[in-house]
Amino acid sequence: MGVIMKIDKPEIVVEPPGPKAKKIIEMHSNLIATTTHDPESLPLVIERGEGVWLYDVDGNKYLDFSSSISVSNLGYPTHPEIKKVVIEMLDKLAHAAGTDFYNPYQVVLAEKLVSISPGNFKKKVFFCNSGTEAIEAAMKLLRHSTNRKYFIAFIGAFHGRTMGSLSLTASKPIHRKGYMPMVEGVIHVPFPNPYRNPWGIDGYEHPDELINRVIDYIDYWVFQHIVSPDEVAGIFFEPIQGEGGYVVPPKNFFVELSKLAKNYGIMLVDDEVQMGLGRTGKMFAIENFNAVPDIIALAKALGGGFIPIGATIFRSELDFKPGAHSNTFGGHALASMVALKTVELVEKYLPNVNKLEKLFREKLSTLKEKYPVVGDVRGIGLAWGIEFVKDRKTKEHDVKTRNRVLYEALKNGLALLGCGKSSIRIAPPLIISEEEALIGLEILEIAIKNATR
Ligand SMILES: Cc1ncc(COP(=O)(O)O)c(C=O)c1O
Repeated sequence: MGVIMKIDKPEIVVEPPGPKAKKIIEMHSNLIATTTHDPESLPLVIERGEGVWLYDVDGNKYLDFSSSISVSNLGYPTHPEIKKVVIEMLDKLAHAAGTDFYNPYQVVLAEKLVSISPGNFKKKVFFCNSGTEAIEAAMKLLRHSTNRKYFIAFIGAFHGRTMGSLSLTASKPIHRKGYMPMVEGVIHVPFPNPYRNPWGIDGYEHPDELINRVIDYIDYWVFQHIVSPDEVAGIFFEPIQGEGGYVVPPKNFFVELSKLAKNYGIMLVDDEVQMGLGRTGKMFAIENFNAVPDIIALAKALGGGFIPIGATIFRSELDFKPGAHSNTFGGHALASMVALKTVELVEKYLPNVNKLEKLFREKLSTLKEKYPVVGDVRGIGLAWGIEFVKDRKTKEHDVKTRNRVLYEALKNGLALLGCGKSSIRIAPPLIISEEEALIGLEILEIAIKNATR
């Protein structure tokens, strides 16, 4: 007798938010100083997770297409091999930072990160607890060691919410509203968004024209009108803009940006906090673009889905003088060993990401063909964005439909998150199987159908 495989499926026993969820959401609103929730937030109150599945407090079961914004790349709750590492470290040494005394755990993680990151040059690593700190460290490192004070960042970028990284962030005005003054010296320039850019260039049809416009904007408009390039320390970028809408620039953009930066001795800072660690089918998203940054920021998924850790990997000729920058917990013993195991596991799942990219490309492109409200579909690996518009010609954002799609998906058992002005992000855990991916893509289509009825 053949073995009957049980296929996991979403199960909605009560429309979210169920009674228990409603209670928690009310308590949350009264008690928690929340940063991202707004009245249009999704009423998902998660109690537990298993693989790519999330269970809410009312017993509903959802397929997860969010990875909690690229944190849970290895699924829920904790990968068994990581759990083993945690138990071992709890019995041995949980906290030991590399600030006052030394420990062997940080150095093996640093060695691993240095060896797998792009760039055939000597590198060092600074450890911290989050993405914003990894970016702050890059900013401080650049000012500290180059004596240049200016930074360039892209419109649409998200680099964090502490004052330094917030000065670089430019994806939504609400992130910055009321917080002036920012850190001085940041100049924002247009990102080569193929679908929506200030010049109305179709960057899919004419990628080189779009690239040239952006490079020319920096080289001529910025460097010849605002700041001399020899005062610019670094150009910060996300290889694929995350919060800004899962926007994929033309393939050759970072090669051209590197040439420009090199010409003026400017460092390239690659923010891999959301797109790094396997999400795009490569360990680092920048590897899809054949460019080599001078500094790389990592966080989110580096912590194996639960432990806060960030890392700034940089050319060792930059460096901090002793005592110039530090923190208490960054990359402590337990976090370092979890991160090391995470990197090793991500390496194993890269083939799965690359295999599934084709499926997502095909299925999502079909959605674009079938539904006029889908203006753009873009992505690499398991990082996909869908942008909703009222009219394909005017490209007017359709925020209402986007929000309805998110809610319809949830009601049908698929957890998704928004990004950009009217986009959704699709970022399932890297461990997802083809069968599970197909279930999610089917629900997504139902959600679009329901939302546009
Ligand atoms: C690209 C990018 N950089 C930096 C950050 C900030 O990371 P954290 O929230 O860990 O401070 C984020 C967070 O979403 C991000 O997506």
